[in-house]
Amino acid sequence: MEKLKIAGGSPLQGTVKISGAKNSAVALIPATILADSPVTIEGLPDISDVHILKSLLEEIGGKVQLSDGEMTVDPSKMIPMPLPNGNVKKLRASYYLMGAMLGRFKKAVIGLPGGCHLGPRPIDQHIKGFEALGAKVTNEQGAIYLRADELRGARIYLDVVSVGATINIMLAAVLAKGRTIIENAAKEPEIIDVATLLTNMGARIKGAGTDVIRIDGVDSLSGCRHTIIPDRIEAGTFMILAAAIGKGVFIDNVIPLHLESVTAKLREMGVPIEVGDDQIFVGWADHLKAVDVKTLVYPGFPTDLQQPFTSLLTKAEGTSVVTDTIYSARFKHIDELRRMNADIKVEGRSAIVHGPVQLQGAKVRASDLRAGAALVIAGLMADGITEVTGLEHIDRGYCELVEKLTGLGATVWREKMTEEEIEQLKNM
Ligand code: EPU
Repeated sequence: MEKLKIAGGSPLQGTVKISGAKNSAVALIPATILADSPVTIEGLPDISDVHILKSLLEEIGGKVQLSDGEMTVDPSKMIPMPLPNGNVKKLRASYYLMGAMLGRFKKAVIGLPGGCHLGPRPIDQHIKGFEALGAKVTNEQGAIYLRADELRGARIYLDVVSVGATINIMLAAVLAKGRTIIENAAKEPEIIDVATLLTNMGARIKGAGTDVIRIDGVDSLSGCRHTIIPDRIEAGTFMILAAAIGKGVFIDNVIPLHLESVTAKLREMGVPIEVGDDQIFVGWADHLKAVDVKTLVYPGFPTDLQQPFTSLLTKAEGTSVVTDTIYSARFKHIDELRRMNADIKVEGRSAIVHGPVQLQGAKVRASDLRAGAALVIAGLMADGITEVTGLEHIDRGYCELVEKLTGLGATVWREKMTEEEIEQLKNM
């Protein structure tokens, strides 16, 4: 087990290249199950979620090759093997195996997904969609059993705007008979990316990226080649980090449109930003203004950047209120930031941040992926040494983080934890 050590305070400068989008990758990989010949996805990030999904595809008989971010999946010999336990529990996005296996085999057994603990994360809307398409869905001892004689297109209104449910229903519907209409669909860029892959495989999908998606079922899908979109959350994390401790950082390989809400908030704080075609430059400001942030579904401010943004706000002059309307309990990073001298309190769904304060290095623990990013940013901003544990969360979503930070001039390194430290962590 390792920890991350950060010697804070040195200003960051230079260029960082953003990797492929984690939240696309975890849907694109299961989508390959639906084809009858090999599918290649280029530009995948080197993160543990991708490796776990590779193993899951192999468990059901897929032939998978992965090198330099390029994955080729031959799904032709896959079988609907039950996956009630094991790897499936290691990530939230294993729920996409439900839609993809149901679509291809008309049956699946998938253990309830794991992933970050951000408060309640039900999958009722996914199940509502599968049932509307004709599947019988039961929950037996922590695994979801899905079966259908045939899947038939249906009109499905999502009661909650859900990225996962929108993609999962698309996956199940592309091989169903007739037309499916998803109303109140999520509009995140990752949905468009998955729809693009499915369309290149031969699916008929219209409206991805709007709140009404129309899918006309086809008889079969075949292999193709697809390049993943850049990770807007990783890019946003680096924009926030650059605003916090940068002296001019170029963020390369981005789609600036995907980051408009972040760009707008940083500008509101007084951070100079220049936007190019596929690059964003974040300059520095001596003085940062407090702002309020409310997370919303896309194109609103992403919940996945709420935690990193809170670290930045400790440096802003005045009181900022950060409200998460998507996840009620995405505030586990706050206690850790307080250990580092931050003046923040949580009230209901909001964190109230008083600034500016100078953060101090401390031993902190990442409770989830984006909490980890928040603590790394805080560590870079802090005086002295910060030690971050819980790296397994960070490794799920940030590709080559140490290398990228070092490339910008940060002093950060991984260190093996001692037996005693591992024991202490277990007892926390
Ligand atoms: N919800 C329901 N019922 C459902 C599904 C969702 O009530 O059936 C609720 C959730 O509890 C939440 C809201 O709807 O309050 C939105 O959830 P959504 O389904 O959109 O989230 P998700 O698909 O499970 C994805 C990302 C998350 C990201 C959210 C919101 C993946 C694998 N995960 O989760 O990413 O926070 O969308 O944008 O794509 C992360 O990257 O750190 C992360 C957690």
